[in-house]
Amino acid sequence: AVERTLSIIKPDGVEKNKIGNILARFESAGLRIAALKMAHLSRAEAEGFYYVHKARPFFGELTEFMSRGPVVISVLEGADAVAKNRELMGATDPAKAAPGTIRKDLATSVGENTVHGSDSAENAAWEIAYFFAGSELT
Ligand code: CMP
Repeated sequence: AVERTLSIIKPDGVEKNKIGNILARFESAGLRIAALKMAHLSRAEAEGFYYVHKARPFFGELTEFMSRGPVVISVLEGADAVAKNRELMGATDPAKAAPGTIRKDLATSVGENTVHGSDSAENAAWEIAYFFAGSELT
């Protein structure tokens, strides 16, 4: 089915000048960029986005990292976009990610793992609405 998913290029990816590299992977895989913005999240915005992880031991580290510098937030659209994006990203821990994936090629650690992607179509709808107004979706 044609789906939409939310992608975030995290602060480490932006710091390493990998925005174009990562967006090109999405496009080459047949995903259309339906919305795109760069933003420097506040701590509160990062906490709101990751509130499902609020009780996790890494929540403080995660939200501090995500608000450290600018991120690139996009909506990717295409056939099975959620799964396709997760395949392109690779496993959460870069050390366990398959060759050729974004995290294997570019990421350094489970905390600084370069990209976020929605894990279901349902969560994608929530995540997209968190960052984009309807008028910003094309
Ligand atoms: P993401 O897909 O953005 O969603 C939650 C994030 O928590 C995850 O990617 C990881 O970057 C981060 N995360 C998961 N486990 C750990 C951990 N043990 N230490 C730090 N961050 C983690």
